Amino acid sequence: MSERSGQELYERIPAKIYDDAQAAVVQVAGEIAAAIRERQASGGKFVLGLATGSTPVPLYRELIRIHREEGLSFANVISFNLDEYFPIDDRHPESYHRFMREQLFDHIDMPDEQINIPKGDVPREEVFDACKEYEDAIVAAGGIDIQILGIGRTGHIGFNEPGSGPKSRTRLVTLDRLTRLDAARDFHGEHNVPRYAVTMGVGTIMDAKKVYLLAWGRSKAEVIRAAVEDDPVENLPASFLQAHENVSFILDTASGSELTRNKYPWLVGFPDWTPELARESVTHLSLKLGKPLLKLVDKDYQENGLSELVTEQGPAYGLNIRVFNEVQHTITGWPGGKPDADDTYRPERAVPAQKRVLVLSPEPQDDVLAMAGTLSRLVAHGHDVTVAYLTSGSLGVPDEEARWAADLMLEAGGGEIAIDVLRELDEKGDFDEDTADLRQFKSYIRRNEARASLERCGLEKERIRFLDLPFYEEGRYRRFVTGERDVVAVKELLQSVQPHQVYVTGEAADPSSVQAKSFSVFEQAISELADEAWLSDCYVWLYRSDGSEWEIHQIEMSVPCSPDEVKTKAQAIYQHRSQRSQVPAINETQSEAWEQAVARNRETSSLYDRLGLAEYEAIECFVRWTVSK
Ligand code: GLP
Repeated sequence: MSERSGQELYERIPAKIYDDAQAAVVQVAGEIAAAIRERQASGGKFVLGLATGSTPVPLYRELIRIHREEGLSFANVISFNLDEYFPIDDRHPESYHRFMREQLFDHIDMPDEQINIPKGDVPREEVFDACKEYEDAIVAAGGIDIQILGIGRTGHIGFNEPGSGPKSRTRLVTLDRLTRLDAARDFHGEHNVPRYAVTMGVGTIMDAKKVYLLAWGRSKAEVIRAAVEDDPVENLPASFLQAHENVSFILDTASGSELTRNKYPWLVGFPDWTPELARESVTHLSLKLGKPLLKLVDKDYQENGLSELVTEQGPAYGLNIRVFNEVQHTITGWPGGKPDADDTYRPERAVPAQKRVLVLSPEPQDDVLAMAGTLSRLVAHGHDVTVAYLTSGSLGVPDEEARWAADLMLEAGGGEIAIDVLRELDEKGDFDEDTADLRQFKSYIRRNEARASLERCGLEKERIRFLDLPFYEEGRYRRFVTGERDVVAVKELLQSVQPHQVYVTGEAADPSSVQAKSFSVFEQAISELADEAWLSDCYVWLYRSDGSEWEIHQIEMSVPCSPDEVKTKAQAIYQHRSQRSQVPAINETQSEAWEQAVARNRETSSLYDRLGLAEYEAIECFVRWTVSK
């Protein structure tokens, strides 16, 4: 079986995986530019189907660059956007009309009359006719030549939510709860997110001559795998693209990571059996068969596509023990290293016994979600712990919380500031952004929550730093742009602490997220400090706080939490009052942040248990980062 045919056994849509989103969009933008130019040469119009969301933003930037630097004209391009919220005013900061103007149309030479976007502001009774006209206009333009798509976490394309049929056309749809939750931050609260949308149908999209579906970041990996590898179903509208004759999925490493060729490479060919891959396949086998590592026998390997591994590195008994020991050695109750102990097989070094530890948290709460237990231990073990919040998190504070705090201040005689805040909240129009003063006030709310939270972990107030990085203060969710000032601030922090250990998150996260932006700033700062002596004695530990967790074979340090530590952790997260659901869940399965975080840590401990290692109440886990990772 050749590698290619092995892959084809699983994949029903051609998928190209690039190192990162930028490399991918350079390729796609180049193909679009070439197609537009070719049509220009023959004097025809080119019809481009466009998408919104954070995913296509780097593509639009690249197209704008080609327009500016390489003279690509869009004068012969007619565009049709996939969708628009309903009802929504064109001027609303989150309307797709405004988004497209800001992200693309204002920067290229496409005539206004050639731009088509479904209308979100027609009276409800006229929507049906407007949808029909939209379909007719696509046909009149000669059909869509290239359609760009993103994908939602529910597997939706455009706003074709689960349940959309393969033949659906442009129409009014009701948005899924998960989609509205995903948009809640952009709209400053779930209750502000429109309930409906107008979207091209799956059938409309299928009529496009060529389709590129783009996806970046880990959060899309599972839905991409299902769309590419599983049977097409209405529950996952993107899977209908399997029937399209000219579709490509354009992925980065993280969004392609769940595809069988990457996740279980031994199923599609003959991989290079590195120790990490061996650990991955053996732990996978153990969990799949429900057998502890030390009970696996040769036959288990042979019957599950792992004959080659057991022949090369077996027999099973020896291989089992090797992997068991590797996994065992990841567990430590001493995240800062155990003083005076032999550290040959420990994740952290024994010396220096007392370390300078720097925990970087993109927004307040990331830190405790992932590592409240570890943080408490580091403090209890006498390390010199500093927690730094890179951004203020002010965008995540609902107006209601600000009003609550300002009312309290006013009653306590707080005066001027409280009056200003309340006036501003009263006068704030539907489409208005928070002023700098209101954002500042909201950031104080988050600072106080963070202090209360870290107090539960035993950390003193003086050990907390708030960096308020400019990229966040000057941006909006999903549209942050980092710069030199951010890097300088993080460099100064690192230089002033000179840590032996840094904890950080955001690697392979959704590239538009605060976590990913913060990580890229950190990465840049570290690369500019490469010559510093302290850096050669510094371990960087990655944690995850975006709802995902490291896989068992990746984990390099596991810190067990006792039942009491789990309680402390829940309390620490609970202090982030502004981040709790604004509407209490009654008779719903929706869970709060602290419940989800603890459930994730319990799941990790259950994996260790199922592999036949010790059974703990919960486990927080980390991966060591080196520049190449
Ligand atoms: C919205 C849009 C989709 C988009 C999706 C994902 O639902 N209607 O077209 O694909 O969001 O957004 P993002 O690209 O920000 O992940």
